[in-house]
Amino acid sequence: MGITTTNQVGVLLSFFFISYFLSLFCHAANLSTQGNSIKDGQTVKSEGENFELGFFGNSSARYVGIWYSIPEPSVIWVANREKPISDKSGVLSIGENGNLTVFDGNNVSVWSSNVSIASTNTTAKLDHSGNLILSGSDNKVYWESFNVSTDTFLPGMKVKVNAEEGENRFFTSWKSADDPSAGAYSMGIDPRASPQIVIWEGENRRWRSGHWDRQIFSGVPNMTGSYLYGFGLSDSENGSRYFTYTPINTTDKLKFRIRWDGYEEQLRWDEYKGDGGEWTLIQYQPSNDCDFYNKCGDFGVCSAADSPNICKCMKGFVPRNADQWNRGNWSGGCVRRTELQCQREISNVTGENDGEDGFFDLPCMKLPDFADLETLGFTEDCSDKCLKNCSCTAYTNVNGIGCMIWKGDLVDVQHFKRGGNTLHIRLAHSELGGKNKLSTLVIIIIVVAGVLVLGVFVFLLWRFKTKQKVLPTVSSTSCRKSHHDLPIFERSTSRELSTDLSGSVDVTIEGDQASRPELPLFNFNCVITATDNFCEENKLGEGGFGAVYKGNIPGGQEIAVKRLSRRSTQGLDEFKNEIILLAKLQHRNLVRLLGCCIQGEEKMLIYEYMPNKSLDCFLFDPTKQTILDWRKRFTIIEGIARGLLYLHRDSRLRIIHRDLKASNILLDEDMNPKISDFGMARIFGGNQDEANTNRVVGTYGYMSPEYAMEGLFSVKSDVYSFGVLLLEIVSGRRNTSFRLSEYSSLIGYVWHLWNEEKAMELVDPSIRDSCPRDEALRCIQVGMLCVQDSATLRPTMSSVVLMLESEAVTLPLPRQPNFTSMRGSFVDTESHTAGHEIASSNDLTVTMVFGR
Ligand SMILES: *[C@@H]1O[C@H](CO)[C@@H](O)[C@H](O)[C@H]1NC(C)=O
Ligand SMILES: *[C@@H]1O[C@H](CO)[C@@H](O)[C@H](O)[C@H]1NC(C)=O
Ligand SMILES: *[C@@H]1O[C@H](CO)[C@@H](O)[C@H](O)[C@H]1NC(C)=O
Ligand SMILES: *[C@@H]1O[C@H](CO)[C@@H](O)[C@H](O)[C@H]1NC(C)=O
Ligand SMILES: *[C@@H]1O[C@H](CO)[C@@H](O)[C@H](O)[C@H]1NC(C)=O
Ligand SMILES: *[C@@H]1O[C@H](CO)[C@@H](O)[C@H](O)[C@H]1NC(C)=O
Ligand SMILES: *[C@@H]1O[C@H](CO)[C@@H](O)[C@H](O)[C@H]1NC(C)=O
Ligand SMILES: *[C@@H]1O[C@H](CO)[C@@H](O)[C@H](O)[C@H]1NC(C)=O
Ligand SMILES: *[C@@H]1O[C@H](CO)[C@@H](O)[C@H](O)[C@H]1NC(C)=O
Ligand SMILES: *[C@@H]1O[C@H](CO)[C@@H](O)[C@H](O)[C@H]1NC(C)=O
Ligand SMILES: *[C@@H]1O[C@H](CO)[C@@H](O)[C@H](O)[C@H]1NC(C)=O
Ligand SMILES: *[C@@H]1O[C@H](CO)[C@@H](O)[C@H](O)[C@H]1NC(C)=O
Repeated sequence: MGITTTNQVGVLLSFFFISYFLSLFCHAANLSTQGNSIKDGQTVKSEGENFELGFFGNSSARYVGIWYSIPEPSVIWVANREKPISDKSGVLSIGENGNLTVFDGNNVSVWSSNVSIASTNTTAKLDHSGNLILSGSDNKVYWESFNVSTDTFLPGMKVKVNAEEGENRFFTSWKSADDPSAGAYSMGIDPRASPQIVIWEGENRRWRSGHWDRQIFSGVPNMTGSYLYGFGLSDSENGSRYFTYTPINTTDKLKFRIRWDGYEEQLRWDEYKGDGGEWTLIQYQPSNDCDFYNKCGDFGVCSAADSPNICKCMKGFVPRNADQWNRGNWSGGCVRRTELQCQREISNVTGENDGEDGFFDLPCMKLPDFADLETLGFTEDCSDKCLKNCSCTAYTNVNGIGCMIWKGDLVDVQHFKRGGNTLHIRLAHSELGGKNKLSTLVIIIIVVAGVLVLGVFVFLLWRFKTKQKVLPTVSSTSCRKSHHDLPIFERSTSRELSTDLSGSVDVTIEGDQASRPELPLFNFNCVITATDNFCEENKLGEGGFGAVYKGNIPGGQEIAVKRLSRRSTQGLDEFKNEIILLAKLQHRNLVRLLGCCIQGEEKMLIYEYMPNKSLDCFLFDPTKQTILDWRKRFTIIEGIARGLLYLHRDSRLRIIHRDLKASNILLDEDMNPKISDFGMARIFGGNQDEANTNRVVGTYGYMSPEYAMEGLFSVKSDVYSFGVLLLEIVSGRRNTSFRLSEYSSLIGYVWHLWNEEKAMELVDPSIRDSCPRDEALRCIQVGMLCVQDSATLRPTMSSVVLMLESEAVTLPLPRQPNFTSMRGSFVDTESHTAGHEIASSNDLTVTMVFGR
């Protein structure tokens, strides 16, 4: 019903417009030096017909403008806003000098694009985004209306942000609802610290958005999802960045403008609303009393929820003028009650030294205006930066911006119910309530960290000694060919085994009986033959759990045999049971376990053989790196993520890999990634979901902080390893190759680039130019989310898969990694497992193909 009506209205409207334009002989003409001009009454439509260019206004004040081609008046740009034409005799054309010019009835120019043009042969056209472009015959653009904006920010426009050039008051309001001449309000960008949107009334600030934290303007905590509606800040080009505005749905008609009465508003055209469509308000600002600039004065905090008494002084401050303040005149603000210790020292006040200044936390704040950004070294703390400078009154470390400090008065502070940032204000010791909690906390942290480091050191020493005691014994390395006709499988045992264990299998996996794989138990002698008695020549590598050999079984099939080190504490039945479970894990991104072989003490796992060896052979080899172009790398990342998701969630066994790294990712003939060595932790003990284990398995550099330090593992420790691996794949560099650099680890380096907004520089130079920027940046951000210190903040693998595959998902911002995890490899050897399982530095675990 509604649709029919709308359609009818639409048909009527288009009929009306067609006849209207026909009567005015409107052809979508381009203007050019030779020819066409637009007389008052005619209009030109843009490419795509979303916009129109022509004359508007009342009969005594005519303006040339551009508007959305919709029933409601919605002018988005005005040319001669200060000089209206008083009758309908105006003409827009390209003057003889090539400039776009508005002439009045007397051939006098009232407005000109006013640019110097090399050739006088120019054309002007209105493009699909509503931009009027004046270009020369060589297609060089001389002038565009998007660069001389009036009051509206349209999708496609760019607003320049340049710290050296300072404030950019790009938009100016109209004088009144129907007078487009410049009004009292302007809107633009203040680039200081991190850019923010500001509305000025004359020279005074009226509202500010708070600093851009790369996702939202931090002073507009509600600004999420569709509310945000596509604001973005480009990367820096020669010191300039640009704010852009991209609609989520490209067909949406949007405008973001400074209204004549000083309110910023964001509107979307809803064609199904009202009578033929309506502009709907997405948001406007200032939206409450507290949004007005510095409502509560310096050092005051405004809280809209406490209306009508919205203003309070910050802790440690008192109203400057108590009478006025109590009367509700808050503009005087507040003053410090107790002078800071550092101030007293400077002004030589003698008296009792009352202790060091400290900080008090104010959560959920709109941060004060006029921040300074400080760059922190890895060992530096934002609070130290503030303490070192006596004029510093507050600091905060904002995710996505960095360390901000304020010198002097704290201006325009607001308290939000939700969202916002924590502001640490500096107070004299006596204002902090006696005990110096901060330094007590610091001491506790230092003591705990010290004990931990000592513990880890002792532990490693112990492990190292143990390792030397139990060096694996290879029974024979002589390569002697023996060609006996041996059965490959020990069939009887196999059948017996599967019947024996069927009960327990069914209890563990609720799988259907029909698809239950039988576990082939390989004949020991056959395996000996296949690998030439574990000949050194056939050795593919030495992994964390034993050496891997290549083998050829009769019939030409290739297999990989992993000869497990003898330290497995499991009994034989347990072991077989475990293998049956692991053999059931089948996923295209997992290496297939074909079976096992048991002979006395000797236990072996038989895998499919992977001809392309492992990922690290390609990734970190300068000559082979180029084989992995961006597409392949992305496929590999996705594949690993899916494989891991399967292990964590879909396989029902909930396997935590615990040693995910580049050398454990094997590549098949089409370079598809396959995770190997999964389930080892189960065989070697410890298969709880989250556990504190005294047997730490893993490789430094890939180990999450909680796992490396406390032995605490969970699916989130795998997520951490995945993050490191992802960043390695994108950058083509080993995590550990940064050990001696100033960044300490790949993670430190990524964080550095990310903060400098140069994340693209992480991408392997051999593929940097050919990779899709958005996808690469998305990958990097996902990687950074995975390597966050706090396990709870890390995404699960299912979110990782979602984030990698869907462009529509808004990614959270990663938290800054702390010092210890930056140090990633606090042990000085490259790829190491601590514990009984030792991986040598060329540890490559390889596996083989079994015909499918
Ligand atoms: C206007 O110019 C564009 C290219 O600049 C061209 O595609 C279009 O056909 C022109 N329109 C007319 C009516 O000449
Ligand atoms: C305006 O100038 C055009 C040529 O540039 C001329 O043809 C026209 O007669 C002039 N009109 C008036 C009113 O002077
Ligand atoms: C465009 O206008 C400006 C100012 O009116 C003038 O200086 C310039 O010469 C004009 N363009 C050309 C190509 O002459
Ligand atoms: C043209 O621009 C120059 C400076 O670029 C300015 O001085 C002049 O007033 C402008 N002329 C018009 C007609 O806007
Ligand atoms: C201007 O450009 C048009 C087409 O681009 C061309 O036909 C015409 O000859 C040019 N005129 C001059 C004076 O260069
Ligand atoms: C318009 O502004 C953008 C960004 O500031 C700039 O890249 C572009 O060159 C400008 N266009 C013209 C014609 O000056
Ligand atoms: C026409 O609009 C102008 C402002 O654009 C205004 O000053 C003037 O009063 C209006 N005239 C009439 C007759 O409405
Ligand atoms: C955020 O939005 C909620 C409702 O959408 C509103 O109640 C609240 O006042 C808003 N907060 C701010 C600070 O705008
Ligand atoms: C940056 O500046 C250099 C020289 O100053 C120039 O060659 C280069 O084209 C500029 N890059 C951009 C994107 O403007
Ligand atoms: C975009 O908007 C159009 C029309 O409003 C609608 O038909 C389409 O489904 C929207 N697309 C998305 C992805 O929301
Ligand atoms: C508000 O207080 C300030 C001093 O704090 C004073 O200058 C100003 O006149 C007062 N305004 C009103 C309306 O009382
Ligand atoms: C503070 O005292 C020291 C010596 O006690 C003196 O050198 C210095 O000039 C004094 N500073 C001020 C600001 O009075």
